[in-house]
Amino acid sequence: MNRMNTILTQELLLSLTSDTPSISPKFFYDDIGSHLFDVITLLEEYYPTRTEKWIMDNYQREIAAAVAHCDVLVDLGAGNCMKASRLFDSIKPKQYRALDISKEYLKTAVADLQKQFPNIKMSAHAIDLSLPLAFPDIEALHKVFFYPGSSIGNFDPDKADQFFINLANECHGKGGLLIGVDLVKDVEVLHHAYNDPLGVTAAFNLNILLNVNRITGSNFQLQDWEHYAFFNAAQSRIEMHLRARSDVQVMLPSNGGKDHPLSFSKGDLIHTENSYKYTQEDFVEKLQRAGFGNVRCWTDPNEYFLVCFANVQ
Ligand SMILES: C[S@@+](CC[C@H](N)C(=O)[O-])C[C@H]1O[C@@H](n2cnc3c(N)ncnc32)[C@H](O)[C@@H]1O
Repeated sequence: MNRMNTILTQELLLSLTSDTPSISPKFFYDDIGSHLFDVITLLEEYYPTRTEKWIMDNYQREIAAAVAHCDVLVDLGAGNCMKASRLFDSIKPKQYRALDISKEYLKTAVADLQKQFPNIKMSAHAIDLSLPLAFPDIEALHKVFFYPGSSIGNFDPDKADQFFINLANECHGKGGLLIGVDLVKDVEVLHHAYNDPLGVTAAFNLNILLNVNRITGSNFQLQDWEHYAFFNAAQSRIEMHLRARSDVQVMLPSNGGKDHPLSFSKGDLIHTENSYKYTQEDFVEKLQRAGFGNVRCWTDPNEYFLVCFANVQ
């Protein structure tokens, strides 16, 4: 087992043996997971991607005017890099730095994009955004952090605050954060977005177990588990879980070669994702509390989704 997988196995062992077993959503994104996410974004029920694109296209000029200057566009959780590439003409970054945990998928996406935009200096970085971020080599440059797709919703609210403080500090008095976030809305709309009838979101959720098997050598069987997603109104979040279809035994090999048995009873849950939904007011306040001053906001006619540019000047 390589060093990275050893660290990840330790993390998974801890989270899977806790009182409320969980797997961090970062484990969704192996190569298959990244492709499945791209299919989710095409689904009729999954409004966030097309709504965010609509806002960014419709308000392109205003967004570019708010950003004003960009030496480096730092794409956080870049995925297929598509959303950033749509900004290149208006924001005109000199450099594009893409960060993602899904290393191979990211490398391919950035290499393809570099061919289309040979004048922008590009680089791909396999980085875990749940750890503190630092950019010493581009400290003096005017950075615009780009965090679309409502990925911020995966952080618990206090962790999101820490993340924003980290980004505001890393601006070093220049630039800012262009971010997309999903808004609180009708529960039915939210429910359907995470329970599509084609079962793509279910496949995306189940694939996390295949990734865990690959990393740790565990023996989760997909047929033992089913997708379960609902809106938790008290916490203002969609929760995704995997629910045991029967009593299940799983072996999780650990670092010393010793196997850790995991036992689940029928109906037991493994929590795989939270996706917090915000009001515009709460979200803007959150950005300001973290050290971002001026926050500009754009939304769609249904007010399903919010795009903000928050600067530190
Ligand atoms: C919801 S998708 C958004 C993709 C793209 N930015 C978009 O808006 O369409 C989340 C992206 O963040 C990446 N990601 C998830 N957790 C991560 C983590 N802890 N560190 C780095 N990247 C992560 C995933 O691989 C995926 O590409």
